[in-house]
Amino acid sequence: MPIISPSLLASDFANLQSEVEKINNSDADWFHVDVMDGSFVPNIAFGLPSVKAVSKHAKKPLDVHLMIVNPDKYIDMFADAGAAYLTVHYEACNHLHRTLQAIKSAGMKAGVALNPHTPVSVLTNIIQDIDLVLIMSVNPGFGGQTFIKAAVEKVKELKNLIAEKQASTLIEVDGGVNTQTGAELVAAGADALVAGSFVFKSDDPAKTISDLKAL
Ligand code: DX5
Ligand code: ZN
Repeated sequence: MPIISPSLLASDFANLQSEVEKINNSDADWFHVDVMDGSFVPNIAFGLPSVKAVSKHAKKPLDVHLMIVNPDKYIDMFADAGAAYLTVHYEACNHLHRTLQAIKSAGMKAGVALNPHTPVSVLTNIIQDIDLVLIMSVNPGFGGQTFIKAAVEKVKELKNLIAEKQASTLIEVDGGVNTQTGAELVAAGADALVAGSFVFKSDDPAKTISDLKAL
């Protein structure tokens, strides 16, 4: 059974508390919160106060995905805001090892996201230090995009790398996930699935989450 992390980016922001309650009362495992700075990605979403507001009502861990430049500057602030997992982009970090250490010292699990064009092999020498790798199956910045199929192969490669290095890293995939793409990803070795539009734009989000959980 995969870990399911519904992305609040697709939720109704004017009714955020009730959207959070929907996830609390579902089979979902985590809350996926997308933080965008308008610089690393061409969109702006979820700042620190919004993460804190979610945290106040969330009864499951916050899986915070930072799509920002200079993530090091904000690590302690996201720990205070309630993040359990803090994921930075490989492409935004010049000193990834140091960044991961800082995330762990702040009491969080450390994640690394890879853009669609970034090969899994860049993580060969650091995989043992990573709690979670987030494979992007769309270009980060927006919900509702089409799944990039090459992500499935990347999940398989990553699974092999993790086994080879005897690491305990979780594999999460983000973008265009539905029951069909989700099934392919789970078969390839994904441990966790992020789903935004598929969950929140469905008639029955709790049922959609259960369908993903059953993959
Ligand atoms: C995209 C975000 C995703 C987004 C996924 O940059 O990282 O988490 O919410 O949305 P869907 O599931 O609609 O592709
Ligand atoms: Zn995300």
